[in-house]
Amino acid sequence: MKKLFVIAIAFLMSLSLVACNTSTKKEISFKAGTYTAEAFGFNKETPISVEVVTSDSAIESVKVLSHKETDGIGSVAAEKLPQQIVDTQSVDIDIISGATMSSEAIVEAVTLALKQAGVDAKKLVKKESNKKEAQVIDADVLVIGAGGAGLSAAIEAADAGKKVVILEKTAITGGNTTRSTGGMNAAKTVNQDQNTFEEGSSLEKKLETAKEKYPELSELIATVEKQYQDYLANPQGYFDSTELFMLDTLVGGKNVNNPELVKVLVENSAETVEWLKANGADLSSVSSFGGASVKRIHRPVNAEGKTIAVGSYLVPILTEVATKKGVEIIYDAQVTELLVNEGVVVGAKSDTYTVNAKSVVIATGGFGANIEMVTKFKPELKGFVTTNSPAITGDGIVFAQAIGANVVDMDQIQIHPTVEQNSSGLITEGLRGDGAILVNSEGKRFVDEVGTRDAVSAAEVAQPGGFAYLIIDQRMVDSSSVIASYISKGYTVTGETLEDLAKVIEVDAENLKATLETWNQAVEAKNDAEFNRTSFAEKLDTAPYYAIKVAPGVHHTMGGLQINANAEVLNTNGEVIKGLYAAGEVTGGVHGANRLGGNAVADIIVFGRIAGKNAAASAK
Ligand code: FUM
Repeated sequence: MKKLFVIAIAFLMSLSLVACNTSTKKEISFKAGTYTAEAFGFNKETPISVEVVTSDSAIESVKVLSHKETDGIGSVAAEKLPQQIVDTQSVDIDIISGATMSSEAIVEAVTLALKQAGVDAKKLVKKESNKKEAQVIDADVLVIGAGGAGLSAAIEAADAGKKVVILEKTAITGGNTTRSTGGMNAAKTVNQDQNTFEEGSSLEKKLETAKEKYPELSELIATVEKQYQDYLANPQGYFDSTELFMLDTLVGGKNVNNPELVKVLVENSAETVEWLKANGADLSSVSSFGGASVKRIHRPVNAEGKTIAVGSYLVPILTEVATKKGVEIIYDAQVTELLVNEGVVVGAKSDTYTVNAKSVVIATGGFGANIEMVTKFKPELKGFVTTNSPAITGDGIVFAQAIGANVVDMDQIQIHPTVEQNSSGLITEGLRGDGAILVNSEGKRFVDEVGTRDAVSAAEVAQPGGFAYLIIDQRMVDSSSVIASYISKGYTVTGETLEDLAKVIEVDAENLKATLETWNQAVEAKNDAEFNRTSFAEKLDTAPYYAIKVAPGVHHTMGGLQINANAEVLNTNGEVIKGLYAAGEVTGGVHGANRLGGNAVADIIVFGRIAGKNAAASAK
């Protein structure tokens, strides 16, 4: 009897299981076929188009048919997410950090395609992929972070014949570097073969001001004065010097910078432009940028001679160079801990990987996307947007401090004055260097637009509403593919005439016209009586006109790990932590209280290379 009862129960249970299976099966039954759908990601003009193929029970394939998302960011989502959707049979996937809008658009398009197949994507049950097995890897040099600094370090270490592994937290290389638009500052390069001064700019006046404000820099200023007098006596070629670059960087940084590090930066800058060129990255277009006394920022141009964004140009090149030299890049590996043996750093661990190495380079970037950390050091930045990749959360600072590393200048956090607030998109300072002006909600200029970022941001915050419009004309649009990308991302509004533009941005048309008239006269006279701007480029007089609404956003964290000129990390007693190097935004001291535009790329490549070379040399 008992046996019969058990059989009956088993029979009933198996029936209910069949019923269960049938109902699950019903939920995931697809109309077999091939479906296409579209959704807008970062690019607001061209949608991402996907194709989904289903059988009657599964998603068989997903393809991105076309997209115009940013190279190296959205393009990575387009490359990686389709397979994730097929592997997990779900749209509940890990979006690519830093490519949120593109990732979400792919999910949305696939969801629409699945709807055509009769499936509600939200009801799909995620198939868990097998958890990654723990792995132990041996290397000579471990680099943590695959942004510009990490890739440069890895290339140098590989060139020194070392086995190099990079642990990268996200699914893509680039970090904040990919988002960098402006260019790289370098002094005394072969590319500065044009007149580096703009007519109307006055170095004498700047040197006088520097003398008054920073008497402690008098020796450096005297050297620059002498160099300039020599140049004026025999004006051959162009004028710039590593000393003037150093002075600009120290004055820009309010002389809070570590001069030893600044010296390394400026003295290695020209050679680093050549190193980049030798590795396939040509930054030969030279222009003006905020805080620089001469034209010193080096930018890439495309085949049509239009300037392009520096970061998304450099990252794929450096990634390819590193990969070709045998550097192993491990993605989705967030380091949480450094390994130390008898006071020497000998590797690091992520949740899955343990890398044993003879030396380690930290290149994890700053903490500009970690708003808790930002407001801990600068509470007044609460509520500000950030231009940073979401991955830039200060990890390297935290795990290095855990083994005794010292930090400097942590409260020196830069806000950038021209950030599009809906997307947190950086609008490059290069636009102002190339001639754009800023007007407030009354249609009036309010600042020297090519002043240092802290000065321009402060002036902007003081305007009604704390925002401004960046005004550009068709001539500027025609010479820059960066502006074309702003148009396609939907950042700009336009007007055939200044009156039209004034209407769209709701500022007083007469004011705006008067502002442009006065500005164009200033450009002609090379004399800005209102705000003493000394970089003019060309008049803004070619219709149609464009405006981008901007306000400040957190951009760069100048503080971080304390390093010496060899990129060695120091502990809280000022001693070198053996085996540990750091480069780029994770470090502090190079930029002082305010980084000049174009000095971040110089910093990451110059110090990345130094860290890589020295880490290789110590990896015996
Ligand atoms: O405005 C920019 O293009 C930013 C450049 C930089 O932060 O160096």
